[in-house]
Amino acid sequence: MFRRKKPADEDPAPSQGLPDDMVVVVDRSLSPYLVLFHEPAGFRAEQMRSLRNRLATMNPDGEPKTLVVTSAVRGEGKSITAINLAMAFAELERHKVVLVDADLRRPACEKYLHLNPGPGLSDVLRGDATVDRVLRPAGYRNLMLLGAGTRVDNPAEVLAASRLDELFQRLKERYQYIVVDTPPVLPSTDAGVLAARADGTLLVVRLEKSLKKQSKDALRVLQDMGGNVLGTFVSELRGVDPDHDPRLAYEPDAPEED
Ligand SMILES: Nc1ncnc2c1ncn2[C@@H]1O[C@H](COP(=O)(O)OP(=O)(O)OP(=O)(O)O)[C@@H](O)[C@H]1O
Ligand SMILES: [Mg+2]
Repeated sequence: MFRRKKPADEDPAPSQGLPDDMVVVVDRSLSPYLVLFHEPAGFRAEQMRSLRNRLATMNPDGEPKTLVVTSAVRGEGKSITAINLAMAFAELERHKVVLVDADLRRPACEKYLHLNPGPGLSDVLRGDATVDRVLRPAGYRNLMLLGAGTRVDNPAEVLAASRLDELFQRLKERYQYIVVDTPPVLPSTDAGVLAARADGTLLVVRLEKSLKKQSKDALRVLQDMGGNVLGTFVSELRGVDPDHDPRLAYEPDAPEED
Protein backbone atom coordinates (compact mmCIF):
# COMPACT_ATOMS: atom_id res chain seq x y z
CA MET A 1 0.00 0.00 0.00
CA PHE A 2 1.28 3.49 -0.83
CA ARG A 3 1.40 5.91 2.01
CA ARG A 4 1.70 9.61 1.65
CA LYS A 5 4.36 11.12 3.91
CA LYS A 6 3.14 14.25 5.64
CA PRO A 7 5.55 17.18 5.22
CA ALA A 8 6.23 18.96 8.52
CA ASP A 9 5.04 22.38 7.36
CA GLU A 10 1.87 21.16 5.69
CA ASP A 11 -1.44 22.88 6.37
CA PRO A 12 -2.84 21.06 9.42
CA ALA A 13 -6.24 20.46 7.82
CA PRO A 14 -5.67 20.23 4.08
CA SER A 15 -8.00 17.34 3.42
CA GLN A 16 -11.20 18.80 4.84
CA GLY A 17 -12.03 15.97 7.16
CA LEU A 18 -10.65 13.16 5.00
CA PRO A 19 -8.21 10.68 6.57
CA ASP A 20 -4.66 12.02 6.47
CA ASP A 21 -3.23 8.97 4.79
CA MET A 22 -5.73 9.08 1.96
CA VAL A 23 -4.48 10.41 -1.35
CA VAL A 24 -7.26 12.33 -3.05
CA VAL A 25 -6.97 12.16 -6.79
CA VAL A 26 -8.96 14.88 -8.44
CA ASP A 27 -9.87 14.12 -12.03
CA ARG A 28 -9.17 17.39 -13.74
CA SER A 29 -9.75 16.00 -17.18
CA LEU A 30 -12.83 16.39 -19.34
CA SER A 31 -16.16 17.17 -17.65
CA PRO A 32 -17.93 13.94 -16.62
CA TYR A 33 -21.03 15.19 -18.42
CA LEU A 34 -19.28 14.92 -21.76
CA VAL A 35 -20.94 11.57 -22.29
CA LEU A 36 -19.82 11.09 -25.90
CA PHE A 37 -16.29 10.94 -24.51
CA HIS A 38 -16.81 9.17 -21.20
CA GLU A 39 -19.69 6.78 -21.92
CA PRO A 40 -19.95 6.49 -25.71
CA ALA A 41 -22.01 3.32 -25.43
CA GLY A 42 -24.38 4.70 -22.79
CA PHE A 43 -27.97 5.82 -23.03
CA ARG A 44 -27.16 9.52 -22.70
CA ALA A 45 -24.68 9.37 -25.59
CA GLU A 46 -27.34 7.60 -27.64
CA GLN A 47 -29.82 10.40 -26.84
CA MET A 48 -27.29 12.91 -28.10
CA ARG A 49 -26.82 10.93 -31.31
CA SER A 50 -30.56 10.82 -31.76
CA LEU A 51 -30.67 14.63 -31.46
CA ARG A 52 -27.84 14.82 -34.01
CA ASN A 53 -29.73 12.51 -36.36
CA ARG A 54 -32.89 14.58 -36.08
CA LEU A 55 -30.97 17.73 -36.88
CA ALA A 56 -29.30 15.98 -39.81
CA THR A 57 -32.73 14.90 -41.07
CA MET A 58 -33.79 18.54 -41.00
CA ASN A 59 -30.87 19.19 -43.36
CA PRO A 60 -31.45 16.61 -46.10
CA ASP A 61 -29.09 18.24 -48.61
CA GLY A 62 -26.22 18.09 -46.11
CA GLU A 63 -25.51 21.79 -46.60
CA PRO A 64 -23.08 23.32 -44.07
CA LYS A 65 -25.02 24.71 -41.13
CA THR A 66 -24.43 26.96 -38.15
CA LEU A 67 -26.28 25.81 -35.08
CA VAL A 68 -26.67 27.92 -31.96
CA VAL A 69 -27.20 26.20 -28.61
CA THR A 70 -28.76 28.46 -26.01
CA SER A 71 -31.18 28.61 -23.07
CA ALA A 72 -33.17 31.16 -21.07
CA VAL A 73 -30.91 31.67 -18.07
CA ARG A 74 -27.62 30.62 -16.52
CA GLY A 75 -26.60 27.06 -15.78
CA GLU A 76 -29.17 25.15 -17.85
CA GLY A 77 -26.61 22.97 -19.63
CA LYS A 78 -25.92 24.94 -22.82
CA SER A 79 -22.16 24.41 -22.90
CA ILE A 80 -22.26 20.71 -22.08
CA THR A 81 -25.03 20.17 -24.65
CA ALA A 82 -23.13 22.14 -27.32
CA ILE A 83 -19.92 20.15 -26.75
CA ASN A 84 -21.70 16.79 -26.66
CA LEU A 85 -23.62 17.66 -29.81
CA ALA A 86 -20.47 18.79 -31.63
CA MET A 87 -18.82 15.50 -30.59
CA ALA A 88 -21.81 13.54 -31.87
CA PHE A 89 -21.57 15.28 -35.26
CA ALA A 90 -17.81 14.66 -35.30
CA GLU A 91 -18.48 10.92 -35.02
CA LEU A 92 -20.05 10.94 -38.47
CA GLU A 93 -17.72 9.89 -41.20
CA ARG A 94 -16.51 12.61 -43.55
CA HIS A 95 -18.02 15.29 -41.30
CA LYS A 96 -15.81 18.20 -40.42
CA VAL A 97 -17.17 19.92 -37.35
CA VAL A 98 -16.17 22.99 -35.37
CA LEU A 99 -17.31 24.07 -31.93
CA VAL A 100 -17.39 27.83 -31.38
CA ASP A 101 -17.47 29.27 -27.86
CA ALA A 102 -19.43 32.47 -28.41
CA ASP A 103 -20.04 33.00 -24.71
CA LEU A 104 -17.64 35.90 -24.32
CA ARG A 105 -18.98 36.56 -20.82
CA ARG A 106 -18.52 33.19 -19.10
CA PRO A 107 -16.67 30.99 -21.59
CA ALA A 108 -16.63 27.31 -20.63
CA CYS A 109 -15.68 25.13 -23.61
CA GLU A 110 -11.94 25.18 -22.94
CA LYS A 111 -12.54 24.46 -19.27
CA TYR A 112 -14.81 21.49 -19.98
CA LEU A 113 -12.42 20.16 -22.62
CA HIS A 114 -9.47 20.67 -20.29
CA LEU A 115 -7.63 22.97 -22.66
CA ASN A 116 -5.71 26.11 -21.83
CA PRO A 117 -7.51 29.32 -22.75
CA GLY A 118 -6.05 30.86 -25.87
CA PRO A 119 -6.88 33.42 -28.52
CA GLY A 120 -10.17 32.78 -30.26
CA LEU A 121 -13.46 34.28 -31.39
CA SER A 122 -13.12 37.73 -29.80
CA ASP A 123 -9.67 38.12 -31.36
CA VAL A 124 -10.98 37.19 -34.81
CA LEU A 125 -14.01 39.49 -34.51
CA ARG A 126 -11.81 42.41 -33.47
CA GLY A 127 -9.45 41.77 -36.36
CA ASP A 128 -6.53 40.86 -34.11
CA ALA A 129 -6.16 37.28 -35.40
CA THR A 130 -7.12 35.16 -38.37
CA VAL A 131 -9.41 32.22 -37.85
CA ASP A 132 -6.77 29.81 -39.20
CA ARG A 133 -4.36 30.85 -36.50
CA VAL A 134 -6.73 30.35 -33.62
CA LEU A 135 -8.64 27.21 -34.60
CA ARG A 136 -7.29 24.18 -32.77
CA PRO A 137 -8.14 20.53 -32.19
CA ALA A 138 -10.68 20.02 -29.42
CA GLY A 139 -9.09 16.71 -28.43
CA TYR A 140 -11.92 14.53 -29.70
CA ARG A 141 -11.68 12.89 -33.13
CA ASN A 142 -11.43 15.61 -35.77
CA LEU A 143 -13.50 18.14 -33.84
CA MET A 144 -12.00 21.63 -33.96
CA LEU A 145 -12.47 24.38 -31.43
CA LEU A 146 -12.69 28.12 -31.79
CA GLY A 147 -12.45 29.24 -28.17
CA ALA A 148 -13.91 32.47 -26.83
CA GLY A 149 -10.54 34.24 -26.96
CA THR A 150 -9.22 37.25 -25.10
CA ARG A 151 -11.64 38.72 -22.54
CA VAL A 152 -13.38 41.87 -23.78
CA ASP A 153 -15.32 44.55 -21.90
CA ASN A 154 -17.96 44.94 -24.60
CA PRO A 155 -19.06 41.45 -25.71
CA ALA A 156 -22.35 42.67 -27.21
CA GLU A 157 -20.52 45.12 -29.51
CA VAL A 158 -17.87 42.58 -30.45
CA LEU A 159 -20.54 40.02 -31.43
CA ALA A 160 -22.56 42.61 -33.33
CA ALA A 161 -19.59 43.20 -35.66
CA SER A 162 -20.19 42.42 -39.30
CA ARG A 163 -17.14 40.18 -39.13
CA LEU A 164 -19.37 37.57 -37.47
CA ASP A 165 -21.25 36.95 -40.74
CA GLU A 166 -17.94 36.69 -42.61
CA LEU A 167 -16.64 34.27 -40.01
CA PHE A 168 -19.72 32.02 -40.19
CA GLN A 169 -19.46 32.08 -43.98
CA ARG A 170 -15.78 31.22 -43.86
CA LEU A 171 -16.35 28.35 -41.46
CA LYS A 172 -19.17 27.01 -43.63
CA GLU A 173 -16.75 26.77 -46.54
CA ARG A 174 -14.72 24.25 -44.54
CA TYR A 175 -17.01 22.59 -42.00
CA GLN A 176 -20.35 20.83 -42.30
CA TYR A 177 -21.52 21.74 -38.83
CA ILE A 178 -20.61 24.78 -36.77
CA VAL A 179 -21.98 24.33 -33.26
CA VAL A 180 -22.09 27.59 -31.32
CA ASP A 181 -22.24 27.83 -27.53
CA THR A 182 -23.77 31.10 -26.29
CA PRO A 183 -24.66 33.01 -23.14
CA PRO A 184 -28.27 32.76 -21.94
CA VAL A 185 -30.99 34.61 -23.84
CA LEU A 186 -32.75 36.61 -21.13
CA PRO A 187 -29.83 38.42 -19.39
CA SER A 188 -28.18 39.82 -22.56
CA THR A 189 -28.74 40.29 -26.25
CA ASP A 190 -25.77 38.14 -27.33
CA ALA A 191 -27.66 34.89 -27.86
CA GLY A 192 -30.41 36.63 -29.86
CA VAL A 193 -27.80 38.30 -32.07
CA LEU A 194 -26.06 34.96 -32.67
CA ALA A 195 -29.33 33.09 -33.26
CA ALA A 196 -30.40 35.68 -35.84
CA ARG A 197 -27.23 35.01 -37.82
CA ALA A 198 -27.20 31.23 -37.47
CA ASP A 199 -29.11 28.69 -39.55
CA GLY A 200 -30.78 27.06 -36.59
CA THR A 201 -31.12 27.38 -32.83
CA LEU A 202 -31.64 24.79 -30.16
CA LEU A 203 -33.19 25.83 -26.84
CA VAL A 204 -31.90 23.87 -23.86
CA VAL A 205 -34.30 23.26 -20.99
CA ARG A 206 -33.01 21.73 -17.77
CA LEU A 207 -35.37 19.21 -16.29
CA GLU A 208 -36.83 20.24 -12.94
CA LYS A 209 -34.71 23.39 -12.93
CA SER A 210 -35.80 25.57 -15.85
CA LEU A 211 -38.86 27.74 -15.30
CA LYS A 212 -41.47 27.30 -18.00
CA LYS A 213 -42.15 31.02 -18.25
CA GLN A 214 -38.47 31.85 -18.72
CA SER A 215 -38.02 29.22 -21.42
CA LYS A 216 -41.14 30.50 -23.19
CA ASP A 217 -39.93 34.10 -22.91
CA ALA A 218 -36.56 33.06 -24.32
CA LEU A 219 -38.26 31.32 -27.22
CA ARG A 220 -40.21 34.47 -28.02
CA VAL A 221 -37.11 36.66 -27.82
CA LEU A 222 -35.22 34.35 -30.17
CA GLN A 223 -38.09 34.29 -32.65
CA ASP A 224 -38.61 38.06 -32.44
CA MET A 225 -34.93 38.57 -33.24
CA GLY A 226 -35.24 36.35 -36.30
CA GLY A 227 -33.81 33.14 -34.90
CA ASN A 228 -34.90 29.86 -36.44
CA VAL A 229 -35.67 27.78 -33.35
CA LEU A 230 -35.57 24.13 -34.37
CA GLY A 231 -36.57 22.63 -31.05
CA THR A 232 -35.78 22.17 -27.40
CA PHE A 233 -33.42 19.76 -25.71
CA VAL A 234 -33.91 18.53 -22.16
CA SER A 235 -30.48 18.60 -20.58
CA GLU A 236 -30.81 16.47 -17.50
CA LEU A 237 -32.40 13.18 -16.69
CA ARG A 238 -33.54 12.39 -13.20
CA GLY A 239 -35.03 9.35 -11.55
CA VAL A 240 -33.87 5.93 -12.73
CA ASP A 241 -30.26 5.93 -13.89
CA PRO A 242 -30.95 5.66 -17.60
CA ASP A 243 -27.95 3.43 -18.19
CA HIS A 244 -29.29 0.86 -15.75
CA ASP A 245 -33.00 0.93 -16.55
CA PRO A 246 -33.88 -2.76 -17.08
CA ARG A 247 -36.38 -1.75 -19.75
CA LEU A 248 -33.44 -0.90 -22.02
CA ALA A 249 -32.48 -4.54 -22.25
CA TYR A 250 -34.22 -6.23 -25.16
CA GLU A 251 -32.69 -9.62 -25.50
CA PRO A 252 -34.46 -12.21 -27.63
CA ASP A 253 -36.66 -14.58 -25.60
CA ALA A 254 -35.03 -17.83 -24.61
CA PRO A 255 -36.37 -20.66 -26.72
CA GLU A 256 -39.24 -22.47 -24.98
CA GLU A 257 -38.38 -25.86 -23.59
CA ASP A 258 -40.64 -28.81 -24.42
N1 LIG B 1 -26.58 16.16 -17.42
C1 LIG B 1 -26.17 16.85 -16.36
N2 LIG B 1 -26.49 16.46 -15.12
C2 LIG B 1 -26.09 17.14 -14.04
N3 LIG B 1 -25.35 18.26 -14.09
C3 LIG B 1 -25.00 18.70 -15.31
C4 LIG B 1 -25.40 18.05 -16.50
N4 LIG B 1 -24.89 18.74 -17.57
C5 LIG B 1 -24.21 19.77 -17.03
N5 LIG B 1 -24.26 19.75 -15.70
C6 LIG B 1 -23.62 20.70 -14.78
O1 LIG B 1 -24.46 21.84 -14.72
C7 LIG B 1 -23.67 23.02 -14.67
C8 LIG B 1 -24.07 23.94 -15.80
O2 LIG B 1 -23.76 23.30 -17.04
P1 LIG B 1 -23.29 24.17 -18.29
O3 LIG B 1 -22.04 24.90 -17.97
O4 LIG B 1 -23.30 23.28 -19.48
O5 LIG B 1 -24.52 25.18 -18.33
P2 LIG B 1 -24.63 26.54 -19.12
O6 LIG B 1 -26.07 26.71 -19.43
O7 LIG B 1 -23.67 26.56 -20.25
O8 LIG B 1 -24.16 27.59 -18.02
P3 LIG B 1 -23.85 29.16 -18.28
O9 LIG B 1 -25.18 29.82 -18.44
O10 LIG B 1 -23.12 29.57 -17.02
O11 LIG B 1 -23.01 29.25 -19.50
C9 LIG B 1 -22.21 22.59 -14.73
O12 LIG B 1 -21.68 22.57 -13.44
C10 LIG B 1 -22.29 21.21 -15.32
O13 LIG B 1 -21.20 20.42 -14.89
MG1 LIG C 1 -22.19 27.90 -20.77
